[in-house]
Amino acid sequence: MIRKSLFCFIVISVLLASCSDGKMKYRIGVSQCSDDIWRDKQNAELRMGAYFHDNVELKFATAYDSDERQVQQIDSLVKSGIDLLIVAPNQVRTISPAINRAYDKGIPVIVFERKTNSQKYTAFISADNYEMGRTMGEYVITRLGSKGRVLEIKGLEGSSPAIERHNGFMDALKSAPGIEVVASLQGDWTEPTAYAITKQWMTLLPPTVEGRGGAIDLVFGANDRTAMGARKALLGADTAANATVPLFCGIDGLPGKDGGIQLVRDSLLDASYIYPTHGDQIVDLAVNILEGKPYAKETMLMSALVTRDNAKVLQMQSEEMMHQALRLDQLHEKADSYLHELDSQRVVNWLAIGIIVLLVVVFVLFYLYHLRKISMQRERVVNTLWNMGNTESTEKAESTGNTDSADSRDTAANEEQPPTEASRQATEHKADGTETAAQQPATDDQGAAASSSSVPSVFLNRFREAVEARLADSELSVDDLANDMNLSRVQLYRKVKAVTGSSPIELLRTARLKRAYQLLLTTDKSVSEVAYAVGFTAPSYFTKCFKEEYGIVPGDVRK
Ligand code: FRU
Repeated sequence: MIRKSLFCFIVISVLLASCSDGKMKYRIGVSQCSDDIWRDKQNAELRMGAYFHDNVELKFATAYDSDERQVQQIDSLVKSGIDLLIVAPNQVRTISPAINRAYDKGIPVIVFERKTNSQKYTAFISADNYEMGRTMGEYVITRLGSKGRVLEIKGLEGSSPAIERHNGFMDALKSAPGIEVVASLQGDWTEPTAYAITKQWMTLLPPTVEGRGGAIDLVFGANDRTAMGARKALLGADTAANATVPLFCGIDGLPGKDGGIQLVRDSLLDASYIYPTHGDQIVDLAVNILEGKPYAKETMLMSALVTRDNAKVLQMQSEEMMHQALRLDQLHEKADSYLHELDSQRVVNWLAIGIIVLLVVVFVLFYLYHLRKISMQRERVVNTLWNMGNTESTEKAESTGNTDSADSRDTAANEEQPPTEASRQATEHKADGTETAAQQPATDDQGAAASSSSVPSVFLNRFREAVEARLADSELSVDDLANDMNLSRVQLYRKVKAVTGSSPIELLRTARLKRAYQLLLTTDKSVSEVAYAVGFTAPSYFTKCFKEEYGIVPGDVRK
């Protein structure tokens, strides 16, 4: 039983510790179309954003620019039971069916950065890609003095930022007829593709200009990686030292080592445009939706052009921000490990409390058992001694021929001994349910115990005779008994206590109740008459004492 309760305790403790904060966790699925430094930064921000909500759990999936993979990933995120979906769809049309399925299942959907052609989304958050293309177009016009040849490398064909950036760029150039877009090559956001298509395009140029970039004045890449791919293709190893180097512009303007800001600072790019990631803001939006708080259905993020003029300041700022983010991350890791420690500490505490409670319960139970055992032992000794006294006095009476009077009563009483509380319980626990034990309190064991102990039975006999002679006397006191036995009160007490472990008063009470039991069994006297006959002045008190001694009320003895 103890082992079982200990096990239950451990389980409860662990459960209590694990759901100690009691908050339900929101599981948010993040479906990224690509995997690159821009996504890395955003994923880090998403994680950071989640730190600020202790009830958010993020599940990431990256499709590596594959429509099929992204569709599968969205479906399996939904199947896994996410509460909200954050998705950057690879292309406008291809991912919409999977997003619609999630939305139709009642899962809120945040579309970020790339658009779908469906209205089934809860919120959309992005920078304005058309505006970015347009601003870049205006920059190019200024940079080239409204005159020159431009090569455009577009982003992935069906993705909304590619379409919008191209449209914005072209719309801006409409105001500068002196600028010719010599080609708009179809890229896919990646550097290798940009490199390959630019190389391919260069093969179409007259041999004089191939490999020098001299055929164009500026390259606009739909993102920085694309612009860099074109740069590597145009300015290959065979670039002549005096060849005109075109300008390269891109979009993303990331901070960090390979980011657009550094590329502008290093003059590898002429300009870039910060394409904000804002992962933390996306998580906040998600939590607002999940918690039923107000939120904007469409959020347009602010953005800015990066040129040689502001690149240094922007770099300093972004480095500072990255530094703070790193510290925040470290702080979170620390807090996380403290929380883990706290959690295990909590389990240990609960276990310790459990063990202490268990020990206290075991101790109390053991103590109660011990008390009970002592009282039963004492009761048995008292009864045994008393009965032995009866037997001895009977034997003595028989040997002297004096078998009437009190002794003959005792002999009769011996045949109808009342059950003591101890023997009553023994009977109750007996499997065969017989009542023999209850009728015979002095068992063989008890007799053996009594005879083996060197009880001065002569003294006890005298004491018993003194008690029984005046059993009906309700006024009988220990002083009277001591007088009858020619002892002082203290002497009597000490002797009786030493021999039986009980006080004279206790023995007197036992004797009265024993006699009452016998009278109830062997006479027709009423309970009250019996009570008075054994020296009780109040039948109700008699009933109470009787119940304590035998576990039944006097009236039940005859039933
Ligand atoms: C990152 C990226 C960026 C680009 C954006 C367009 O995956 O390719 O370089 O600006 O996606 O959606």
